[in-house]
Amino acid sequence: MKQPIIAPSILSADFARLGAETEAVLNAGADWVHFDVMDNHYVPNLTIGPMVLKALRKYGISAPIDVHLMVKPVDRIIGDFIEAGANIISFHPEASEHVDRSLQMIREGGCRAGLVLNPATPIQWLDHVLDKLDLVLLMGVNPGFGGQSFIPETLNKLKLVRDKIDASGKEIRLEVDGGVKVDNIGTIAAAGADAFVAGSAIFNSGDYAKTITEMRCQIQH
Ligand code: DX5
Ligand code: ZN
Repeated sequence: MKQPIIAPSILSADFARLGAETEAVLNAGADWVHFDVMDNHYVPNLTIGPMVLKALRKYGISAPIDVHLMVKPVDRIIGDFIEAGANIISFHPEASEHVDRSLQMIREGGCRAGLVLNPATPIQWLDHVLDKLDLVLLMGVNPGFGGQSFIPETLNKLKLVRDKIDASGKEIRLEVDGGVKVDNIGTIAAAGADAFVAGSAIFNSGDYAKTITEMRCQIQH
């Protein structure tokens, strides 16, 4: 297994103190910052965009920012996120007119590219684009809100995606997003994930460092 990545979702942070909250989870041992972008169209919620990402860079956040686009259409916002300082940009294939083109746009802009699969999205979306993927983001919940419960069927899907990635021989991260907690992260890791998004589990805990350390312990055993 690759070095596991813990990516707190700042969706559950205190938005009035976003810079300080982001800094706090990084100081507490997080690897990446997971940045959830919702448009009240592809998903029934509205969050943050490229200006906020740019503001985090200006504030001094230098860690990798993992942008999860829950927007439709996808292409016209990709350039703004590249320019704002994103490192990884993932999108939902159903939200793109031309998946291969969207992936190319991300990579040509110097970012790593990912596809996001909802609980009911077939994994066959990955076929024919594996060469252009740096990351697969598998949803453990239906996208739109933090704090939902992990859908157990995701574990079977996770194993299938792990096998597909291994069979391809490519360097592709397998990240799970939604419902990840201290008490299920070990099972999720055992099923094949090597990057873990956690929003409410970290930000609603009193002690970010303690929660992140507990998560790492569960993964490493
Ligand atoms: C859901 C978002 C997730 C969410 C995770 O649509 O993509 O990143 O913030 O939150 P938790 O960990 O609370 O399920
Ligand atoms: Zn997300």
